[in-house]
Amino acid sequence: MADSGARDLASGLPAPAPELSIRVEPYAECSTRVLEFRNQNRGTSLSARYVDWRYRGRPCQESALVVWVNHADGRTLGSAGLIPHDFHVLDAVRPIGVVGDISVVAEARGMGIASRMLTFLAEDARVRALGGTFVLPNAGATGPLLAAGWVNAATIRRRMRPLGVASAGGGGRGALRALVHRALRFAARPAPLPPGSTCRIQKQQLRFDDRFDALWSRLPKTGRVIAVRNAAYLAWRFADHPLMKFDLVEVDTAGQLSGYAVLSRHGTTVAVDDFVAIDSTAAKAVASAALAHAYSQQEVTGVQSRHCEPTWMPAGWSLKRGFVARPDESRALWRATGADPSGAMADPANWLVTPGDKDV
Ligand SMILES: CC(C)(COP(=O)(O)OP(=O)(O)OC[C@H]1O[C@@H](n2cnc3c(N)ncnc32)[C@H](O)[C@@H]1OP(=O)(O)O)[C@@H](O)C(=O)NCCC(=O)NCCS
Repeated sequence: MADSGARDLASGLPAPAPELSIRVEPYAECSTRVLEFRNQNRGTSLSARYVDWRYRGRPCQESALVVWVNHADGRTLGSAGLIPHDFHVLDAVRPIGVVGDISVVAEARGMGIASRMLTFLAEDARVRALGGTFVLPNAGATGPLLAAGWVNAATIRRRMRPLGVASAGGGGRGALRALVHRALRFAARPAPLPPGSTCRIQKQQLRFDDRFDALWSRLPKTGRVIAVRNAAYLAWRFADHPLMKFDLVEVDTAGQLSGYAVLSRHGTTVAVDDFVAIDSTAAKAVASAALAHAYSQQEVTGVQSRHCEPTWMPAGWSLKRGFVARPDESRALWRATGADPSGAMADPANWLVTPGDKDV
């Protein structure tokens, strides 16, 4: 593909070659093409049911959009999805576009197509009518998103808490491993729940009832930025997920739901996918109950927690204690459509971002 070398003075990016066209379409009008293009250009193959669940199933009044970059010869060179989700932003709930499935065909990468396509998407009138856009990108998509005007919202760190070592054969090494395993198990033994707290575990078949709506409305979140975590959202994200099964740790304080953690198993690791706690007592109870649930499972050697740091959510601090920071980190990016009058969104500590916020 020819690169004209021309510059767009407004954005500083190379101007698109004249043979390229970019357009934004409602997902409902291009769902089959979304699946085909995604599967042709990414390592994994997805089902129509999964893509529909993501683009159509999320409980939000606004509909999903898809941006396409086409060559004049009919080839599709790039695409990205934008799936609206309600976020609590500072003082009100607003629909925010969650960007995902950013793909450019292999032979056209490194030519600014993703940056152009994302700039075009963000400037679409339907997107500008939303409260902003949010994305948890991988390393490859971060550069194009920054070039297209997204800014850092929060940094996501990964932490591991060892709960043992994998069992291995006999001999001297085996004996040493067994000793280390016992020491780690002892160090990580579950702490009791704070007085007045109780916990309940749901396994695999999850139900999110109106207690979760009550928890969401009681959660003190003025001045904060957090994706809506009501019962409808949690049911869609975790109970109805077409590919994954989760466990749910619920914590009650004084007879009322005061926090939860959603967990999934990946080989010998248990991952904390999402959490909420209403205050620091509930946070300690959520962390203890989540660790105890992981500890009780056969062959689990560690718990992984990934969330933005720092964060205002007390469960975020509790799920750091005893966890070892891993070197890899990723970013959550944000692009506002209007001004943030208080500047509160620029402070990463005002955010809560967990793996549950990923566009899955
Ligand atoms: C990630 C992906 C979408 C990027 O698409 P792309 O069109 O190659 O992206 P761009 O060309 O806009 O930017 C890629 C890099 O090329 C650079 N670049 C942009 N225009 C350029 C030009 N004319 N000449 C040379 N380099 C250029 C950009 O600065 C960017 O570098 P950086 O990441 O270090 O900032 C593409 O690599 C892809 O489809 N990957 C597989 C799927 C994937 O991982 N998607 C992300 C999911 S979150």
